[in-house]
Amino acid sequence: MSSPAERRELLKAVYEEARECVRCPLHQTRTTVVFGSGNADADLMFIGEAPGANEDRIGLPFVGQAGKLLDTLLAEIGFERKEVFVANTVKCRPPGNRDPHPKEIESCHDYLRRQVALIEPAVICTLGNFSTKLLRGDTTGISRLHGREEVRVIGSRAVHLYPLYHPAAALYTPSMLETLRADFHRIPELLALGAPEQPSPLESLPEVEEPVPEPEEPPMPAAPEPAPQLGLF
Ligand code: URA
Repeated sequence: MSSPAERRELLKAVYEEARECVRCPLHQTRTTVVFGSGNADADLMFIGEAPGANEDRIGLPFVGQAGKLLDTLLAEIGFERKEVFVANTVKCRPPGNRDPHPKEIESCHDYLRRQVALIEPAVICTLGNFSTKLLRGDTTGISRLHGREEVRVIGSRAVHLYPLYHPAAALYTPSMLETLRADFHRIPELLALGAPEQPSPLESLPEVEEPVPEPEEPPMPAAPEPAPQLGLF
């Protein structure tokens, strides 16, 4: 078990690695790797979709209008941005703000898993479809899932996973904004639960195929009992 200071140093090392990342073609068009920002020991983490043009330029997540809305909603529940950790499913901007491709999301997933493992949040709010589908590992959409918390193991960490509408979508749809606000207001209740019971280190290891045991040598037939030597004694 590592201290918060040790985990923070390890997170910085992951950041240094991500800064040089060339795992997917997004590295060719990015200006900056937007690793994520905030409290490296946060109980509450938010995962958005992908950096946009402003984020790519500045190197921080959620710096535009959607970020302002995120800050407002956080303030309503008594939080400042620096108290939580905010990251995205992909760390580099998809050109022209297109959706990230599945291969790009997959290449970046390892960074997200390592962020979660090192930050050790109790609650992860996924913002919108991309992070919700990625962290739940299925295709159910955000309109069915928003506001429904569940315990999920992300990599090695059990968390309360809490899908929310993406603030960028809520900016333009007043009814969605009210739903997002109502869902947001339940976050303190989830934080009060604390982190769920953690899986044992062995349970959280990726499943490996059981080696097929070598067939055993067929047992040697028992040596025949010597026939009783009748008649000699
Ligand atoms: N939208 C996201 O999903 N992430 C950002 O960082 C900014 C906008």
